Amino acid sequence: MKDVFLDTDPGIDDAMALIYLASCPSVNIRAISTVMGNASLDNCTANALFLKEKFRLTAPIYRGASLCINGKEPHSFPDHVHGKNGLGDVVPINTELCCESHSAHRAMANLALQSPSKITLLAIGQLTNVALAILAHVNFSKDLNEIILMGGSLNFPGNVTAWAEANIYGDPEAADIVLRSEVPITMVGLDVTMKTRISQKFLKDLTSGLGDLGGFLDQINGFYANHYAKHTENYDFPMHDSLAAIFLTNPELFITRRGWLSVVKHGNERGKTLFRADEKGPHTVCVDVDVTNALDLFRQKILDKYS
Ligand code: BDR
Ligand code: CA
Repeated sequence: MKDVFLDTDPGIDDAMALIYLASCPSVNIRAISTVMGNASLDNCTANALFLKEKFRLTAPIYRGASLCINGKEPHSFPDHVHGKNGLGDVVPINTELCCESHSAHRAMANLALQSPSKITLLAIGQLTNVALAILAHVNFSKDLNEIILMGGSLNFPGNVTAWAEANIYGDPEAADIVLRSEVPITMVGLDVTMKTRISQKFLKDLTSGLGDLGGFLDQINGFYANHYAKHTENYDFPMHDSLAAIFLTNPELFITRRGWLSVVKHGNERGKTLFRADEKGPHTVCVDVDVTNALDLFRQKILDKYS
């Protein structure tokens, strides 16, 4: 059983990662925190609470950062990808559920302290909350077991600029703090997420077995697919955040390299991730994935739990 702290900016693909994690008997979601990214912090937090109710989760939810680590306002939000409300503007986002009172970074540090070397931090948004936890709580990086992050790219072009992936570009200073910490980190970046694509047939096979919940997933992913089709005339879309969750449950489906990651903070390559191979390095990078088995696993786990 893996004890997981999920840091997320829901987000359509974040919602899919969440339902996958909730479907895995080997995963114990101990806590969830929110960060701005795919939408404002208010929207991402409302979405997390809404999804908690929809997916029948019990994990507490903590509100995180609404500003970048350097105190600056975030870039504009990607309404064209995730909708104005972050979940495709397809259903009203309402729930009676509320957040816990602690901030995200304090909750991360507290949980790591309570369960030293046990917590896997799965970060599928920009790294602001994680960097705040590292800066504000001296033992945090020692107490954590590992960080798995969705973000960055080695050889695939960026998805915000020619060089940068969205979660790293959102707060490169935060990414720099996280990559310089002593925590073992695995990067699940565009090199593998862009090749793991969800087709319309795959989506139908998944959602048609899930009743009302399937209808909701179909609607939000329909918005996401339309965005991708605008550029490619192809409704397949990449599985970003869920693939990092799949690495957490089934790392044997990935080919990885060890080394040292860093991030470019200045100039027009701001937000680009760099990698120096070294078997003794603290970082692991996913360079390839067994797409067929990753997709099969994802669909089967969700159907087993929710159909
Ligand atoms: C990442 O950016 C966000 O838009 C997605 O949710 C994912 O975490 C992909 O680059
Ligand atoms: Ca995300």
